[in-house]
Amino acid sequence: MKPLILVTGGLGYIGSHTVIELAQSGYEPLIIDNLSNSSLRVLDRLETIADRPFTFEKIDLNDHAAMKHLFQRYPNIRGVIHFAASKAVGESIEKPLLYYRNNVSALVNLLELVETNSVPGIIFSSSCTVYGQPNILPVTESMPFGKASSPYGRSKQIGEQILMDASSTSAFTCIALRYFNPIGAHESGLIGELPNGVPSNLVPFITQTAAGLRDKLRVFGNDYNTPDGTAIRDYIHVMDLAAAHVAALNRQLQGKQTSNYEIFNIGTGQGFSVLELIEAFDRVNNRPLPFKIADRRPGDIEKIFADTTKASQVLQWRAKRSLHDMMRTAWQWQENLMNESFTSTTQPQYDNR
Ligand code: UD1
Repeated sequence: MKPLILVTGGLGYIGSHTVIELAQSGYEPLIIDNLSNSSLRVLDRLETIADRPFTFEKIDLNDHAAMKHLFQRYPNIRGVIHFAASKAVGESIEKPLLYYRNNVSALVNLLELVETNSVPGIIFSSSCTVYGQPNILPVTESMPFGKASSPYGRSKQIGEQILMDASSTSAFTCIALRYFNPIGAHESGLIGELPNGVPSNLVPFITQTAAGLRDKLRVFGNDYNTPDGTAIRDYIHVMDLAAAHVAALNRQLQGKQTSNYEIFNIGTGQGFSVLELIEAFDRVNNRPLPFKIADRRPGDIEKIFADTTKASQVLQWRAKRSLHDMMRTAWQWQENLMNESFTSTTQPQYDNR
């Protein structure tokens, strides 16, 4: 029997891509999602891509009774990949308690169930945001937490600390994956990132501008201490990130962890500036982007990129897809969204199935 893996937030951006990778790697995903930032249409798409049905339950992690019942109905869960969380930096500044409820309280509830139901391990979605602006680049996993610039960032730091404490005394183990900047979409063009409202992240804003849904991209700051003055990030293809979850799960289920709590940077190791991304998008898709230089965005750091040595040596995982692949699939996804004539241009969302 295939090992049953609970995927919280399994219809979201990274969760949905990981479901495909899990199914192709001999695991049986059990998807839960509260549909607050996703849609049942994503489930249809997953079933089309994988050509098989998936088990899905609409559950909110904060509904403790429903979660308890879920673990009772599926007593053979062998692992948990925990994506379900809120992730908008700006919103977290306006609604910090919402972020602590969704990203911290919900995690504690989940861990209690993992413990009482003797689930051997959990994989946690962390973020490079925990480093703040590191002094030394590329950043390694042993660098200390930096100053968090938002409640969202702090919720990831707190989440890691909770997992570190809990896994040191409990029977379950944890692997925290610190994602750098996931972008791009599945090769099929059927699933991808679907931001709510005006995108705050760079690539959805780029693709919506290229599609004519936005007038102009604003480049937040060109006076950083970088070669072209714009900020540098480590962009990683979402399918490479999905594969990293499978590599982590393999390690966890094969009992190969050398400590109960392990952390891995998941990036490509290469940094690109905002202007380099715009230029790559134009080159790959033949779509020049209207943009203007704007003020720096509060809370942004200047540059970060990963040291991925640990992931490649310990997980035997490394990113395979290029910036070209990221830009091509991101645009293909946007084009497909447009072709399906989604009703609202300002809020491209799936309607209910
Ligand atoms: C942010 C979060 C990160 C989170 C990620 C996904 C912080 C510091 N970072 O990453 O933890 O996982 O979002 O939600 O909390 N940019 C523009 N114009 C735009 C949009 C972005 O120039 O319209 C620039 C930004 O200033 C930045 C780069 O593009 O330099 C990437 O921005 P973005 O995609 O929002 O990701 P991060 O801020 O790096």
